Amino acid sequence: MDNDPNVADVARNESARVAIFDTTLRDGEQSPGCSMTAKQKLRFAHALSELGVDMIEAGFPASSDSDLQGCAEIARDVRGAGIATLARCHTGDIEACARALEDAERPRIHVFISTSPLHREHKLQMSRDQVIERAIMGVTLARRYVEDVEFSAEDALRTEPEFLAEICSAAIAAGARTLNIPDTVGYTTPGEIRALFEYLRANVKDAHKAVFSAHCHDDLGLAVANSLAAIEGGARQVECTINGIGERAGNCALEEIVMALDVRRAYFDATTGIDTTRLVPTSRLLTRITGMNVQRNKAIVGANAFAHESGIHQHGMLKHRGTYEILRPEAVGWAKSQMIMGRHSGRAALADRLKELGFALDEAQLNQVFGRFKALTEKKREVFDADLEALALGSDARN
Ligand code: KIV
Ligand code: ZN
Repeated sequence: MDNDPNVADVARNESARVAIFDTTLRDGEQSPGCSMTAKQKLRFAHALSELGVDMIEAGFPASSDSDLQGCAEIARDVRGAGIATLARCHTGDIEACARALEDAERPRIHVFISTSPLHREHKLQMSRDQVIERAIMGVTLARRYVEDVEFSAEDALRTEPEFLAEICSAAIAAGARTLNIPDTVGYTTPGEIRALFEYLRANVKDAHKAVFSAHCHDDLGLAVANSLAAIEGGARQVECTINGIGERAGNCALEEIVMALDVRRAYFDATTGIDTTRLVPTSRLLTRITGMNVQRNKAIVGANAFAHESGIHQHGMLKHRGTYEILRPEAVGWAKSQMIMGRHSGRAALADRLKELGFALDEAQLNQVFGRFKALTEKKREVFDADLEALALGSDARN
């Protein structure tokens, strides 16, 4: 029990430590519009290490020689985070991973095979026994090269739970130390995935020897919620990507899961090693590299995440920022909250902004400027400081 990574934190009466496995450079990079050069990947891998992720999945070396070289460069250059590379349970794939990871400080080979009936029949044309045999071969071979082997059961959430428990038990016996349970097509729900993690922890043989990991896709917009539920079910690693980039609708967004655990720490009783003040700079670096913008209303890193326009909200914020913000923008790397001056803004926010801009207006003057401001918002979506200055100049007694 003492060395059970899933319960040791409970036994020691400490918060659970959830490892952050970043797959921006593998699952993220392989999605449309997100491909990167080897140089860009290396630069981003350094940024991930500074952010404090536990593991960087650098790529899929068997996919091309350039991917292998790119992974090798990351393995050689990046320190701090562990470096993982992905392989099917094929000899060639695993050998390519081993070559790519030769110079890594903390290498991990991540092997996977599909386990769901749909994938077994239509993709692999393999029986359950053949799939298990191949998984054992993959883990065993990977263990010849590295100590740290992760096994993934692709499409796990559409796999028969008892078969999933059987293949996970076989992977542990062959030497895997992380068991990843991917919701490959973003199909599950929070209640279901939590129950599955609880079931696996109870039914996988020698479950205490492995860390259980969640890898959720966002096809139904549930990837973060499902990953949090998996943590409640005992997952101690989550796989995620910056800005949630990834196949189709993407993967669990790193910045969202990390901040959910941080803001609701009392609820989840779990921590990560992430320097949260690096979240926005890392998100913006990825946007600059890929050219793929995040939507304005994206949680944590979107331009509107700490912007307030409505009069009621601005008034509340001026009295106490906790009224409409659950975390400080500085905590995730923004300079500050923004009061957007527009059609929905009220007199209190206008007065505050004008004061910040150095104007001293009495009540009557403020009313005049407010009338002009409202008229301008009919023509302009956002009113900038220069507009406000022009509006207020004639009303300030000192001018
Ligand atoms: O979504 C998935 O199943 C994967 C595995 C290869 C881990 O990305
Ligand atoms: Zn995936």
